[in-house]
Amino acid sequence: MDFILTALIFVLLGLLSYWLVRTNKSNDLPRYRGLPVIGNLHQLLTGNSHLMFTEWSKDIGGIFGVQLLFDNFVVLNTYETIHEALVTKKHDFAGRPTTAYRIGMLSDGFQGVAFSNPNPTWTQLRRVCHRNLKLFDGRNLRNQQIVNEMTGEMMELFAAQKGAFDPRRIVYLTTMGIMIKLLIGKHCDDRHGEYKLLQALVNYEEQVLSAMSPTGEGVELDMFPWMRHFGNKTFKYLKYLCSLRDKLWDHMKEEYSTGGDQCKESLIGELLKAKDESDQLDDEKRKITDLNIKFVAIDMIMAGTSTTSNTLYSYFNIISHHPCIQENMFNEIKSVVGIKRAISLSDRSSLPYCHATILELLRFTTVNPFGLPRCAMKTTTIAGKNIPQGTQVLYNLWALHHDEAFWDSPDEFKPERFLDSDGQVLPASHPNQQHLMTFGGGQRKCIGEMFALGRLFLIITSTTQNFAISPGPKNTSCDPKKYKNGIILASDDYEITLQRR
Ligand code: HEM
Repeated sequence: MDFILTALIFVLLGLLSYWLVRTNKSNDLPRYRGLPVIGNLHQLLTGNSHLMFTEWSKDIGGIFGVQLLFDNFVVLNTYETIHEALVTKKHDFAGRPTTAYRIGMLSDGFQGVAFSNPNPTWTQLRRVCHRNLKLFDGRNLRNQQIVNEMTGEMMELFAAQKGAFDPRRIVYLTTMGIMIKLLIGKHCDDRHGEYKLLQALVNYEEQVLSAMSPTGEGVELDMFPWMRHFGNKTFKYLKYLCSLRDKLWDHMKEEYSTGGDQCKESLIGELLKAKDESDQLDDEKRKITDLNIKFVAIDMIMAGTSTTSNTLYSYFNIISHHPCIQENMFNEIKSVVGIKRAISLSDRSSLPYCHATILELLRFTTVNPFGLPRCAMKTTTIAGKNIPQGTQVLYNLWALHHDEAFWDSPDEFKPERFLDSDGQVLPASHPNQQHLMTFGGGQRKCIGEMFALGRLFLIITSTTQNFAISPGPKNTSCDPKKYKNGIILASDDYEITLQRR
């Protein structure tokens, strides 16, 4: 009995000193009141953290500290603080936290581009991806062709729908299909008999998103990684997801290697070329490995699918409830492109109202409310507050995009806020454009920004050109405050009906 008591006291003292060390950070930051030891954990488990932080910032200011048991992080909620960290001090905050056990496990120790810290190999990988994701650059016709083809197929699938339907599956398969063709260079859908890969991807993606929810089941493993030794349910589930991920990669490699020359020009083909070149280098630090390529491919699928598909899925619901905006878009398309010719990316500058609607969609929905977490690479400051090296930083894009002090009626969907008095899209230097930071900023800014914007433009304008969209019998609120919480916010299921134009 004495032995158990002594051991218990030692464990408690150990935990207390660990807690004191971990929580003794960023002391000059305001903090929202929490409970001793657990900090703000109980508050975050009960609500949408981006909405909660937005409310807290009204009480305690645009920058504050939050404590989750042994973990501390800094939350930024205003344009000034977010811009200072992501853009002005882009090198200081270019890191990603490496303490999240779940991410570490799924990315096999932070391989790939999205979760690793800056290093020479990461720079090379980012460069190859960036170069191969260009869409608006006239030289990259292959990407334009992929998006055009898949948008055309999506229109056919829409046209085949009889009565009210839920567009989730079509949206998902189209965005995922585009990513697969971009990655392995081959088409992949039900009709081409390669459904197995697509289905495996959908399955993996959905399950990872639910397993990675920042406040959902499983968060205990980030805080107490040692729980994996005691039959932890989340750990077992993550192990299963890792095996799914490995099978998925085997599938992709097989499709790539049997796909012939068309695959050589794909992103995986380009990454393999970069690997061959790096093999010739003496510099070990710049070498690209097979493991890097595997995790870049997985990152691309994850980052490039759920963001765009949830934005599009939200769009169809929102627009079905805004017939006037839909008519304005249709009239613009009718007068510039007509209703017969397929819309192309080069039409974007002639369709300012449609372009502004997409910018408003990104602001209004903010499906990725915290972007990806950052980490201070050195001891520095934000808004004059001391930020020690290693501090985890969350930037609340929701608060920025719904700041009542900046946006006029932020809870209303108004494309006009991105247009000038002549009906042209506001220049990039305009404060409204500057306050739209959907893709993050600085050194870690989203690699797929241009690709995502182009894809959204083609799908949204092509749908408007072909169909009038109205709400179906299964009606769901299009208020993004009601979206399901997670790394990516998701609208509840709904139905729409389409009338051919
Ligand atoms: C509406 C669509 C999208 C949204 C809202 C979005 C948003 C974001 C955000 C906020 C970040 C974090 C940036 C930061 O920390 O500053 C990010 C990173 C990233 N995104 Fe996107 N993204 C979208 C589409 C895409 C697409 C289509 C791809 C790929 C084809 C992609 C690939 C990536 C990658 C690889 C990163 C990690 C970059 C790094 O850590 O260096 N994203 N994205």
